[in-house]
Amino acid sequence: MTNYDEVPYPDFIHPATHPGNMAAIARLHGVNAPPPESCRVLELACGPGGNLISLATLLPSSHFEGVDFAAGHVKTGNAMIGKLGLTNIQLHHAKIEDWVTHPESEQDRFDYIIAHGVYSWVPEEVRQSILAICQMRLSANGIALISYNTYPGWHQRQMARDMMRYHADGIEDPHKRLRHGKALLSSVAQNVPQGSAYRVALEEELKALDQANEAYISHEQFEDTNRPCYFHEFAAEAGAQCLQVIAEADWGDSTYEQVRPDVASALASLPKIRRGQTLDFFRRRTFRQTLVCHESVAVSEQLQSADMASMHFVTSSSLQGDQITGSNGLSGTVEDPTTRQAMECLVAEYPASMSYQELCEVVETEEPRSLATLQTDLFNLVCVGLVSVSASPTEVRREVSSHPRALPLAREQVLRGDTVTNLRHQPIRLDDTTAHLIRCCDGETDHAGLVERMVAYSMANGGLVEGDQVVTGEESLRVLVTAKMTSNLQRLAAMALLVG
Ligand SMILES: C[S@@+](CC[C@H](N)C(=O)[O-])C[C@H]1O[C@@H](n2cnc3c(N)ncnc32)[C@H](O)[C@@H]1O
Repeated sequence: MTNYDEVPYPDFIHPATHPGNMAAIARLHGVNAPPPESCRVLELACGPGGNLISLATLLPSSHFEGVDFAAGHVKTGNAMIGKLGLTNIQLHHAKIEDWVTHPESEQDRFDYIIAHGVYSWVPEEVRQSILAICQMRLSANGIALISYNTYPGWHQRQMARDMMRYHADGIEDPHKRLRHGKALLSSVAQNVPQGSAYRVALEEELKALDQANEAYISHEQFEDTNRPCYFHEFAAEAGAQCLQVIAEADWGDSTYEQVRPDVASALASLPKIRRGQTLDFFRRRTFRQTLVCHESVAVSEQLQSADMASMHFVTSSSLQGDQITGSNGLSGTVEDPTTRQAMECLVAEYPASMSYQELCEVVETEEPRSLATLQTDLFNLVCVGLVSVSASPTEVRREVSSHPRALPLAREQVLRGDTVTNLRHQPIRLDDTTAHLIRCCDGETDHAGLVERMVAYSMANGGLVEGDQVVTGEESLRVLVTAKMTSNLQRLAAMALLVG
């Protein structure tokens, strides 16, 4: 029995681990990363398998293997794999340490290795095993993603963790342990002067604890091992195993947003590791997801736009005239008419992606200078987070069919919790009614049939909330559900949850 059998870990989805994302970032750093559509992926400490299972459904011609030492996690994952009938994924009930073996053939190598939520939370020998597996098992141009807790942000977090662990020492029950720990933090916070740095820090930690999943906090705060490190220390640890840092796997994480322009330009001129470390100081960073590869591979110091032509783009931003505004609140100006035309099409295609070639086809010019501007503008929009880039396309059904079919994985996920995964490998939290609509979208039921199923569901669950009223009668419910069915199905399509 492991601690994770006692308190199972939630089935989190980590969008940055999509090989299309890893490949895009690596390629924009000059690394010829393997094609995501036909690759081999290993996930170390895969938990209940949700992240890997989602990837296996999205990339059916790629092969996926997961390793975890909690029997319960592997059993949960295998049950889902069985339900979905997936044949391109295997979960192994094993210790990471047992996977430190030299490959006997190419079949033992992986193009992408994911080690999420494990490096900081295991003893030194397991950390070494993770790096050794990346070193021995990555293919020549393979990419690994390793996440870990970082300083300086974790100095404050560690203070709260140490206090909670000390106070709850000896309490066996995980829920009681967490309750006691939080109660102590809260009591201390209320007894120190308002506005003091100490109180602000404790209140920040309490807020973070309140917003997070309980099982997640139980492990994060009460596991015996939780060893954050500085980014430069991680880079040195990877270097000792002949691995080098490519970049961060999350785009927004390495931009200079919120840093004054003079500071940003000073940072930009620093070598990669020093630049990343110094940016962490500015941001009081707590967590990283870093991409590494073999030290023999040529990796550029900075992002470069050279490989943009092989990429796929998607944007949830809106465009009004030359103003582009992201769903994250960021905004910018698109001055060039060719780029604006391309962006209008891209915005209209959301949540589907368009390749660079497709964007070149929709703009009404073949003039090399205009196309060069388009490439540079796209690169800049990606760098500031207004457009997303991937090395693989997102093929989404944007029109609602007569017999809508939701993503099979999402139809299973709604039976187990409130979060589903979409075609972009993003977690989406749903209310109960939307979750039931997903369940009903089986590809065999037409809109009238969906209305009847939703009316029956609403009646069995006390009606539907509409504005400040609760609608209950069968006929009233039928009128309401009918009126909303088209827009509700369109919302599922916009969330990239429909496949037919
Ligand atoms: C914090 S959870 C992370 C799960 C998932 N990777 C994620 O990030 O959402 C840590 C996982 O590591 C697994 N684990 C810890 N030590 C391990 C070891 N030595 N070998 C294999 N699995 C291990 C646990 O069972 C658990 O599923």
